[in-house]
Order: sequence, then C-alpha cells, then structure tokens
Amino acid sequence: MDARQPDDIDDVMAQLPLTTEALAERLAKFPRVPLAHLPTPLELCPRFSRAIGDINVLVKRDDLTGLAFGGNKTRQLEFVFGEVLRSGADTIVAGAYTQSNWCRQITAAARKFGLDVSLVLAHGVKGPMLQGNLLLDRIMGADVTIIEVLDEELQPHLEAKANALRAQGRKPFLISSFELATQSLAALGYVEAVVEIVRQLAAMGRTLDHIYVAGSEMSPAGLNVGVKALGLPTRVVSISPIAYPEGRAEEIARIATACAGLLGTNARFDPADIVVDDAYIGEAYGIVSDQGREAMMLLARSEGIVLDPVYTSKGMAGLIGHVRRGAITKGANIVFVHTGGLPALFAYAQDLGL
Ligand SMILES: Cc1ncc(COP(=O)(O)O)c(C=O)c1O
Repeated sequence: MDARQPDDIDDVMAQLPLTTEALAERLAKFPRVPLAHLPTPLELCPRFSRAIGDINVLVKRDDLTGLAFGGNKTRQLEFVFGEVLRSGADTIVAGAYTQSNWCRQITAAARKFGLDVSLVLAHGVKGPMLQGNLLLDRIMGADVTIIEVLDEELQPHLEAKANALRAQGRKPFLISSFELATQSLAALGYVEAVVEIVRQLAAMGRTLDHIYVAGSEMSPAGLNVGVKALGLPTRVVSISPIAYPEGRAEEIARIATACAGLLGTNARFDPADIVVDDAYIGEAYGIVSDQGREAMMLLARSEGIVLDPVYTSKGMAGLIGHVRRGAITKGANIVFVHTGGLPALFAYAQDLGL
C-alpha cells in the first residue's frame, strides 16, 4: 500500500501544538470513506469508578462504531479504504487469526463497497470453530482459508493469495497489518479519536488525564500522536494483550512517528515516550486471564457494559491494577477506549467460569 500525504497538506511542517480545529482540518484532507458511526459515546461510569477507587472512569464506546458489530478497526479502515477505493481493486486479501476482529471489519467494509474478500487465517486458539468473527466472515461471504501458522508468519501466504488472484485476472488489494504504510494510515483513525474525546470532555467540563487502551500497534500509536499534536498533558497507557519478545514500545513509536509525518508534523517518538504495560497478558494471547475475567464481570455488573475476553478485559484489568496500586492520582479523569472485539465473546463462553 501507498501511504501518501494529501497534496494540499501544508508543506511547512506544522509547529506543535496544533489546535483541535487545525488537527481536525489536517485529518479531513486524507482520502477517506465513511464506515463508523461517529462520534461514539463517551460514558461516565460512576458505579464502576467507585468500586475501584477515587477516580473517574469514562468509557469511549468504540465497540459501538457500528460496522458488523463494530470495534476499533472501523475507524482505522476509514483511512485504509480511502486508498483501497483509489486503487480500483476488486478483491481484498487480508489475514490474521480465525477470531480476528480486523478481518471481520475488513470483510464488512469490503462488502459495503461491492468488493470480494479472500481471508487467509491462522488457526489460533479457537481454530475453525464456527462462532464469533469467523461465523461473521462466513455470513458476509468471505472466501476463507485456514492454515496452521502463527499470525506473524502469514505475510508470504497473503502475497501468494494475491498473486493467484492476479493470475485469474482479478485486481487484488492486500491489506497487510505488517506494513508501515498501512499501519500509519490506520493510526490516523486514533488521532481523530483524540480530537473527538477532547471535544466531548470539554462539553462535560472535564480534563483528559489518562487514556487507557488494550493496544498492540495502531490504536496506541494514533492516540500518542493525537495527544502530542495537541500538546495535552495526558498519559497514554497501552496494556498489551499480546506478548512480543522485544516488547511493543519500539513498534508503537515507529508507527506513531510515521503517522505524525503523514500529518505534516515532524514529531518523533522514541520508545521511551511510549507507555506499555505487559503485565496483564496472563497465560497467553487469546486465553482468558483471571484478572481479565474479574474486570469483565465488574464492569458488566456495575455499568451494564460488556468487555471482550481477548483485548478489552485485559486492558481494563490493567487500569484496575494501576488504580489499586495507587499509580493514579485521586480524582483523575481516565478515558478507557473500548476497542470492541465483542463477537469473539461467544466463542469463549466455556472459558468464563460461569
Ligand atoms: C478488540 C481489539 N482491541 C484492540 C486491538 C489492538 O488494536 P491495535 O492493533 O490497533 O492496537 C485489536 C486488534 O485486533 C482488537 O481487535
């Protein structure tokens, strides 16, 4: 994929900080398609907040972005599909694990624009179980191939699929979550989420002290860019759902720097600028953890908001852990970004101890 700066974005590197209006104007210059129901609600959770400490938790309901059960990827795909449609492709090729929220939202976006979809999915924890995201991929008519590799080994298989389609006379577009061009464009979705959150908090008369997200790459990268571009005193905390031997700060910093560059700013991110906590992964990615289960039940029973077992329950476990150990000042406003993932919940019914 080509990640280009729009032609009319200021050549002059923007002096930071930008106003929310100036940042919103820059974002509006990128080719983009409407996929998400925006703005998503920002809900104050007083009962949950009281249950965990003397703080104010507000949940940014990006589980409600609306595209085939929604989630964080829908915001990101608005920018990615801007490029897809410009390319004249007729088929999307993408891949991740069988319970991938990314692939489910890609499939829905492709269908909305009349494109075919070929998914190459890695077996993962839940394999070919026809539930959750895989069920939705199949309902939306994606051509699905499941193979026994790890997610990070998928790239050559995706390229082979795209080549095979090309040989059949199709015009495939490979959306790869491993390429910096795709990652930096996708991260723009979370730069815009910061603009949205700041405006919503201003209307409530609140400041933004911390943002928590169960993030792996594009979401924390975009949130960090948004906070830095606006010069906010906010701390972005990414609670990891996946263990990487080399940690995640370097990758998030790399995407954030590329994303800031697309926006015409020369902001650079060092891994030391990125706050990542790997302590809440539990046994492994995709396996329910005790702390995640506790977080899921607590939020559901105090506020009627449901988290997913793979990402957001572990992210919320991180927030609860930080509040309980006194790492957050009393009275702070904490926005927890609910990144969705809910379809997978139903594939995990047996793992929730109910
Ligand atoms: C529900 C959910 N939350 C968080 C993430 C992590 O998002 P990102 O890679 O943009 O950080 C994903 C990624 O698939 C997801 O599906």
